[in-house]
Amino acid sequence: MEHIPSHPPLSPWRLSVAPMMDWTDRHCRYLHRLLSKHTLLYTEMVTTGAITHGSVQRHLRFNAEEHPVALQLGGSEPADLAHAARLGEQWGYDEINLNCGCPSERVQRGAFGACLMAEPQTVADGVKAMVDAVSIPVTVKHRIGIDKVESYDFVRDFVGTVSEAGCEVFLVHARNAWLQGLSPKENREIPPLRYELAHRLKRDFPQLTFGVNGGITTNEQIADHLQHVDGVMVGREAYHNPWLLTSWDEAFFGAAPSTATREAVEEQMVTYMERAFQEDGCPWYAIARHMLGLRHGLRGARRWRQIWSDHRLKPLPPREVWAMAQEYVGLEAETT
Ligand SMILES: Cc1cc2nc3c(=O)[nH]c(=O)nc-3n(C[C@H](O)[C@H](O)[C@H](O)COP(=O)(O)O)c2cc1C
Repeated sequence: MEHIPSHPPLSPWRLSVAPMMDWTDRHCRYLHRLLSKHTLLYTEMVTTGAITHGSVQRHLRFNAEEHPVALQLGGSEPADLAHAARLGEQWGYDEINLNCGCPSERVQRGAFGACLMAEPQTVADGVKAMVDAVSIPVTVKHRIGIDKVESYDFVRDFVGTVSEAGCEVFLVHARNAWLQGLSPKENREIPPLRYELAHRLKRDFPQLTFGVNGGITTNEQIADHLQHVDGVMVGREAYHNPWLLTSWDEAFFGAAPSTATREAVEEQMVTYMERAFQEDGCPWYAIARHMLGLRHGLRGARRWRQIWSDHRLKPLPPREVWAMAQEYVGLEAETT
């Protein structure tokens, strides 16, 4: 008898860590992968210009351990996007994602990011060029509107147009981008979150995959959203409180409970720091900066963090810094 699986396979976009410039570099993703096997990880945005004119190796290299990992591109010229996507596929990325959500002015001048939402056909042309160029999924991350446009029709039409070009997956940061007068940071905090619009997109385009993003910080919230959409993307909370990721494989992918301990993860990171230094002279503090949230909320966390971010310790090998950090955790636990 033919075996009929009792559950549909889980979406690859069920849970992801958001692309974050200067934060989700390959070292950060290496840490996140130690904490969750199944969560999809996004790179920082890489512009097509950086790939065309800069060092491809510097912008695209990543650790084999990071899979599944998606490359986020910023750009709008179809030929440039196709070229960058092709390189991304050659370097081994599992997905190409186009940034249509970043509000910063630098990005607006280059005609990409959130301002592209006003030109769905430009996005569609870029998506089509990438879909034609690669065989991995091409996805789009976007906002629900720009400036004061509040109507659902705007984002519905954007998704409609872009999906016709071959994009089947949309990561929806569920707030508007205000292109004038707000800093990028304010643009992640001030325009109100309207999750309902992301949920409605799923109802109106049931054949497409939607992940919701923005202000999501707990597993309860994630579970709630998964009742309405295919996936949830978490940004700042994953970075500041990475230990949260250790609960995700069990909670959302049906895996066995995590056996990771902070001590073991920290040791693995020290080994990684040694490897990175041997491979290309990468200093340990370029890596350690991403794990400062590892003891978030725990006793001793502050002094432990101070050791790992102490400039005076930069000349020491990471294993020595590690030993000092451990000592301080112990000391504080005994004396407080
Ligand atoms: C430091 C930082 C850098 C970011 N860089 C990017 C980026 O390169 N590309 C992008 O699409 N979004 C970027 N974002 C936005 C996040 O991907 C995400 O949409 C936003 O933080 C909302 O999710 P959150 O509330 O879970 O953090 C960035 C956010 C932060 C905090």
